Amino acid sequence: MKKEEVNHYITLCRDDADIFLWVDDVSVGAGEWGKYFWNSNPICLEIGTGMGNFFSEECSHHPEKNYIGMDIRYKRVYNAAEKSRQKWASNFAIIKEFAQEIGDVFAEWELSEVYVFFPDPWARKKKQLKNRLFQREFLDLLARCLKSWGKLIYKTDHEEYFRSTLDLFREHEAFDITVESYDYEKELDVFDKQNMTEFEHMFRSEQGNIHYTQIVRK
Ligand SMILES: C[S@@+](CC[C@H](N)C(=O)[O-])C[C@H]1O[C@@H](n2cnc3c(N)ncnc32)[C@H](O)[C@@H]1O
Repeated sequence: MKKEEVNHYITLCRDDADIFLWVDDVSVGAGEWGKYFWNSNPICLEIGTGMGNFFSEECSHHPEKNYIGMDIRYKRVYNAAEKSRQKWASNFAIIKEFAQEIGDVFAEWELSEVYVFFPDPWARKKKQLKNRLFQREFLDLLARCLKSWGKLIYKTDHEEYFRSTLDLFREHEAFDITVESYDYEKELDVFDKQNMTEFEHMFRSEQGNIHYTQIVRK
């Protein structure tokens, strides 16, 4: 049953090759996203789009930017695209791929903003930690793909992952942490506070603190 369900979404995604792009089979090369979108607008990447609530709202409200969503699950990428289409957005593309591959997808300085919201903390067993997205190698890729003054916005409910990620960024010569909050609902007034992802919705209703940072590429 599960496999059929997955296959159903694979077919739906493959049938729509203009919006769903794969790294192996990518019809847009690194450095060619401006051609794909037919403009030179800033490119924003959301990693782990999930069901696409934040993604679809952002791209439908900001036609002056281009949005690329990245997730590893067919059902999720399909839903993110459907929600965006229902809101009449056309300034987006979706990549079903591991975010660790961004170095093959984007050229140097191609990205203006990157959003990572509630990434899996992989904290149940010590040996899972190697699966975490935020590691030195990934920061090196981000430093390459983000333009100067481009920024990363990262939110999580997981304090240990948050703190260890901030330590990695502090140690990296290419970044400055410009905003850092351990309870951003109470402490900050930022644009993405009103546009919640599914996980943020869940964590806010559980009344846990949400940690938030903005990090700028120098
Ligand atoms: C905990 S969910 C959060 C989803 C969404 N950002 C939210 O806040 O509701 C993590 C998401 O990241 C995706 N994901 C996990 N590892 C990934 C990776 N290496 N690259 C891209 N997406 C990944 C999962 O499929 C899932 O949709």
